[in-house]
Amino acid sequence: MKKSIKIIGYILFAIVVFAVFILYRIYDYQLEPIAFDKTKFAAVDSDEKLDNLARDLVKQMSLDEKIEQLYGRPMSDALIFVGNSAIFDRATAMFAGGNERLNIPAYAFSDGPRGVRANKERSSGDKLGVTSFPVSMARGASWDIGLESQIYDVIGKEMRASGINYTGTPTINLLRHPAWGRAQEVYSEDPWLMGEFGLAAVNALQHHNVMSCAKHFALNSIENSRFVVDVDVDERTLREVYLPHFKKVVQEGQVASLMSSYNKVLGEYASNNRYLLTDILRDEWGFKGFVSSDWFFGTYDGIASIQAGLNVEMPYQKVYQVDTIKQGIVDGEITEADIDKLVFDTLRTQLKFGLAQDPMAYPDSIIATADSIELTRIAAEKSMVLLKNSKVKNGHSKNRPVLPFAKDSNKTVAVIGRLADMENLGDTGSSKTTEPYVVTPFEGIRDYNKKLGNKVILDNASDLITSKALAEKADQVIIVVGYTHVEEGEFLLASEEANKAAKQGKRTGPKTNGGDRETLKLNPEDEALIKALAKTNDNLVVVYVGGSAIDLSSWDSEAPAILFSWYSGMEGGNALANILYGDVNPSGKLPFSIAKQESDYPYFTPYTEQITYGYYHGYTLFDKENIEPAYPFGFGLSYSNYGYSNLTIQTPELTSSDTLKVTVTVTNNGKVAGEEVVQLYLGFDNSTVDRPVKLLRDFDKFHLNVGESKTVNLTVDAKDMAWYNPEAKAWEIEKMIYQVYVGASSAKQDLLISEFTII
Ligand code: BGC
Repeated sequence: MKKSIKIIGYILFAIVVFAVFILYRIYDYQLEPIAFDKTKFAAVDSDEKLDNLARDLVKQMSLDEKIEQLYGRPMSDALIFVGNSAIFDRATAMFAGGNERLNIPAYAFSDGPRGVRANKERSSGDKLGVTSFPVSMARGASWDIGLESQIYDVIGKEMRASGINYTGTPTINLLRHPAWGRAQEVYSEDPWLMGEFGLAAVNALQHHNVMSCAKHFALNSIENSRFVVDVDVDERTLREVYLPHFKKVVQEGQVASLMSSYNKVLGEYASNNRYLLTDILRDEWGFKGFVSSDWFFGTYDGIASIQAGLNVEMPYQKVYQVDTIKQGIVDGEITEADIDKLVFDTLRTQLKFGLAQDPMAYPDSIIATADSIELTRIAAEKSMVLLKNSKVKNGHSKNRPVLPFAKDSNKTVAVIGRLADMENLGDTGSSKTTEPYVVTPFEGIRDYNKKLGNKVILDNASDLITSKALAEKADQVIIVVGYTHVEEGEFLLASEEANKAAKQGKRTGPKTNGGDRETLKLNPEDEALIKALAKTNDNLVVVYVGGSAIDLSSWDSEAPAILFSWYSGMEGGNALANILYGDVNPSGKLPFSIAKQESDYPYFTPYTEQITYGYYHGYTLFDKENIEPAYPFGFGLSYSNYGYSNLTIQTPELTSSDTLKVTVTVTNNGKVAGEEVVQLYLGFDNSTVDRPVKLLRDFDKFHLNVGESKTVNLTVDAKDMAWYNPEAKAWEIEKMIYQVYVGASSAKQDLLISEFTII
């Protein structure tokens, strides 16, 4: 008896020691060094030298050492990641690669669509967070590529200062349907807009020698069934709609890496998909970087992944097991040369960035500086979209738009809604950030009104009668509605449960976090609030917080003004106040179409094992089927109004290797300065094949003072007019007359039209 108690005691003691050891390892999480010791390597000033160096290093590795390069870290390290997140709310960097014997350091991964995900503590022990920007969809609505470059310049620097040189951003999957849970992480429904933003992100990150990993390759536009869904797509749709933005970051951005998606494409998981990872990506596009898998649940079969061309399994070793790989070589399914090739791609990329000269140093002090925080506010201001701004009678007795609100003093301002005072920056999955502070809508409006001498009352809308009474007596009313990470975002419910549900074609029970939206309508409480208050006060604006399109049909006509403010980052509340009171003139435009009713969009379900992505969605679908949207792609109001004139085709006849050149004059006819986004679409009325009515092919955003006119130059390379002929397996440029539409949105009435010929 005594003996067995003693044994139990020893066992318990051992368990406690082990637990303490593990806890300590979790607590004592350290960044691995990622800098190359450049004294150990000859300078690599040409592609050839780089290739030779990488080849030489691979040659020096044993098979076991090479296999080690094929996955992040051993599965046992998962405890460090999970433990840090669960116990210390700390997002750790994830490491891969490295070989001490050959002086190769590891590389360190963090996500980052709206800022650095991995929250390193500063060397001072100070836990101040990183700069948190408005979500990507908001930035897409800014239509400002220069701004995106500035944003990723900051994110790139903060990555490096955080010990990161490999990042899972930008996310460039297409918004096929607005209910997609991760809509906020991407830029648009349109491949062109997506590609231009993706390219800006990649260039800015890679300028700081951060290897960008664009994701998720490919067709990852449903969230809840992402682990099981098989996306069927025809060849033209794949090439013309779902891949162009990936091709752009590969060919024009020389992106270091891509992340394979969780889903299947044409019957094969993306990580096993040779057609995607080798035939298209490497053989056709000439990709020279490396592909890593999406995390934990993204790999299925080590041999198939090697055959397909998946370079690195992230973040842990699951299917790239030493025994499996060696057996595969013995069985002749793969060769050691296949492994060499995969390691070569990764190592070559790592060396290219790791041995390059850094443009600057990256001390902790560059994280969340006053300048970068100011940039988040500017980004939020430039991305907010004013959808509606009715003319109302107000105190000044003449008709004027609701916004901007008058800057009177001694007034009462009511800020109403569940989300009015919530720190609500969007997804809390992989795109989450830890920031020093967040300015909520209420805080921004309150602080703004302090200087005017107004009283700002917050009401969280728990009782409609109280809210209504408040709205009636207030001078200005701001209703804040929309979503949080609970209604949309990365789906974080146990994946097994989600998979099972997807297979049965149903949802998983009460939602815990994120996922696709079940409906495009706002929550019933929000709709009830808008309806109860909309008519109580002329000076009332509905501010929507979220990352995608909504169905606003049941309250649109009642709301005097509507502003899409998105998940607007840590300075969002200040930006909102600046827009509402006219310190900043709104200039955002919708990066997607808003339908009048949900049934106008293509078929979508969060719970399915199979779906077909068709050639048309978004504005191309609405154009083709003559469906009038509630608010068209590219639409957004301003406090000013801009006139378009003199659309001139500078190159009326082109060959298929030329560039179309167009000019148009834009004039600010309003009473305030502002920024306008001009859009150019090409039309294909004369095509002999089925083509969209029009496609976005260029845009520009610029500032105009009151009365100022500007002649804007727009261009389209003839290669970007091509369609993919699946029979010829080639891109073809039709020799015909094309339409050119230039204007303020994708709606017919906003566009000037002209034409040119490809001869
Ligand atoms: C997401 C990726 C992300 C990865 C690492 C996955 O669940 O799909 O977008 O990069 O986690 O956080």
